[in-house]
Amino acid sequence: MDTIVLKIQQEEKDREKLRQAAKILRKGGLVAFPTETVYGLGANGLDPEATAKIYEAKGRPSDNPLILHISRREDLVPLVKEIPPVAEKLMECFWPGPLTLIFKKSALVPKRTTGGLDTVAIRMPSHPIAHGLIKEAKVPIAAPSANLSGKPSPTKAEHVMHDLMGRIDMIIAGPASSIGLESTVVDVTSAIPTILRPGGITYEQLKKTIGKIEIDKGIQEDLKETFKPKAPGMKYTHYAPSAPMTIVQGPRNAVIEKINKSTEEYIKQGKKVGILATEDNVKKYSKGLVLSLGKRDKPESIAANLFALLRQLDLEGVDVIFAEGITSDGIGMAIVNRMNKAAGHRIVQV
Ligand code: TXA
Ligand code: MG
Repeated sequence: MDTIVLKIQQEEKDREKLRQAAKILRKGGLVAFPTETVYGLGANGLDPEATAKIYEAKGRPSDNPLILHISRREDLVPLVKEIPPVAEKLMECFWPGPLTLIFKKSALVPKRTTGGLDTVAIRMPSHPIAHGLIKEAKVPIAAPSANLSGKPSPTKAEHVMHDLMGRIDMIIAGPASSIGLESTVVDVTSAIPTILRPGGITYEQLKKTIGKIEIDKGIQEDLKETFKPKAPGMKYTHYAPSAPMTIVQGPRNAVIEKINKSTEEYIKQGKKVGILATEDNVKKYSKGLVLSLGKRDKPESIAANLFALLRQLDLEGVDVIFAEGITSDGIGMAIVNRMNKAAGHRIVQV
């Protein structure tokens, strides 16, 4: 299949291009597009044959449900059975933006889209290109992250091209995603709303808005042996670079010392070592390929850089990766969750 790459910088100037992309979606094709979180791989969410193509192009397990993306509040109504008051509050505060809500689905939503579940995930992205495309398509757009299954989510058009060229109809190549991690997924069908995946909207923001909020036991580090995650996607290996990655946690100097020592040992064995260090510490490592995650006091910068860095380490062909641990408050909860998955939960405490 030939993949058309459509360069768009500004939605307003490129209405005609968005129409062309929307036409492909309406005909049952696949279009990758930028959102503020990560690039998405879109299809008509109400057309089971179109959504089946998403699973095929990504190599995604068919029990992993898709998020439906809408551009207007009123487009939610036909897709769900009911809208709980707590959802109204959350939408008021965080839509459009990086928050996905799980509702009971209506009969309009095919089970192919929801991985066989009776619930459906819905998000209204704020990115102007995503917004314009969904509006032009005039149907809800099912869109997982536009990566091959198991790889880090794409935050730049070049990542999508790397993974999906020749497998989909079109890639809209816009700017890099500003948040860089996927949306927060919150289940509003349970008595107390529950975070199923930490993301762009933080636990603290949600708690401040609705008071009571839980975190799914399946995504909590210390409980994950006993509980299965409720978001099917959270149980799969994800975001993984090809080389094994280890996270080193502890006091600053001890972490630096441990990573330097291990790096030296691997280099002696002829291995290429990649190090993910916070900006503040980059100069403390003299050997290995040292990449800056961003500043510790600006965790949003770490969120924005992480996936691109994991892909860069793959391209550089490193044999082993060490990463400094990050604190898990605010957006840090989502960063730690993705880093732990990328490391396959290889975490060393010093
Ligand atoms: O930021 C994002 O959410 C991006 C952009 C493109 O919007 N999309 C994204 O989609 O990350 P995806 O498919 O890579 O991740 C969706 C997550 C998965 O963990 C999936 O299992 C969960 O949401 N999910 C979807 N529908 C669900 C449902 N009905 N119940 C529970 N979890 C659900
Ligand atoms: Mg994904």
